[in-house]
Amino acid sequence: MERTFIMVKPDGVQRGLVGEVIQRLECKGFTLVGLKQLTVSRELAESHYAVHKERPFFKSLVEFITSGPVVASVWEGDGVVASARKLIGATNPLTAEPGTIRGDFGVSIGRNLIHGSDAIETAQSEVALWFEDGELSSWKPSI
Ligand code: CMP
Repeated sequence: MERTFIMVKPDGVQRGLVGEVIQRLECKGFTLVGLKQLTVSRELAESHYAVHKERPFFKSLVEFITSGPVVASVWEGDGVVASARKLIGATNPLTAEPGTIRGDFGVSIGRNLIHGSDAIETAQSEVALWFEDGELSSWKPSI
C-alpha cells in the first residue's frame, strides 16, 4: 500500500493546527499508520532537506525546522502521495489555492506549516529516515 510522510512544522504546531491537518487527511479516507511529536536534530533536518543544500534558504530552513517541536506522521492509501500534496497546496501559501491547508492557513513560503513527500520514491526514503519499522502499524477498518 502506498505511503507518504507528512510533517506539521513548528509554525503549524505552535498555531494549533495539528488536529486540523490530521482531520483533513482522515476525512479524505487516508489511514494514519505512524505519529510522533519530536524536536528535530540538526542532523535529521539536514538529511531531510539535503536536496536543498545549495539553496540560499537552506540555513534558515534548517534553523526553523529545529526551532521547536514538529509532528511527524505516515499515512497510507491509494494515491496518497499526490492526493496529500493536493490537500496541502502550493509551496508558497500566497499562491496556494483556498481550500488547501497552506492556502487557508499559511502566511509565507518560509512558514508554510506542513511538509508532504513530493513523489512515491521520496516518500519511501522520508518514511525510512523519520520512522523505525516498529513505530508504524498498518491497519484496515473492521467496521
Ligand atoms: P517544504 O515542502 O518543506 O520543502 C522545502 C521547504 O523549503 C519548503 O517547504 C519551504 O518551506 C522552504 N522554501 C522553499 N523556498 C523557499 C524560499 N525561497 N525561502 C524560504 N524558504 C523556502
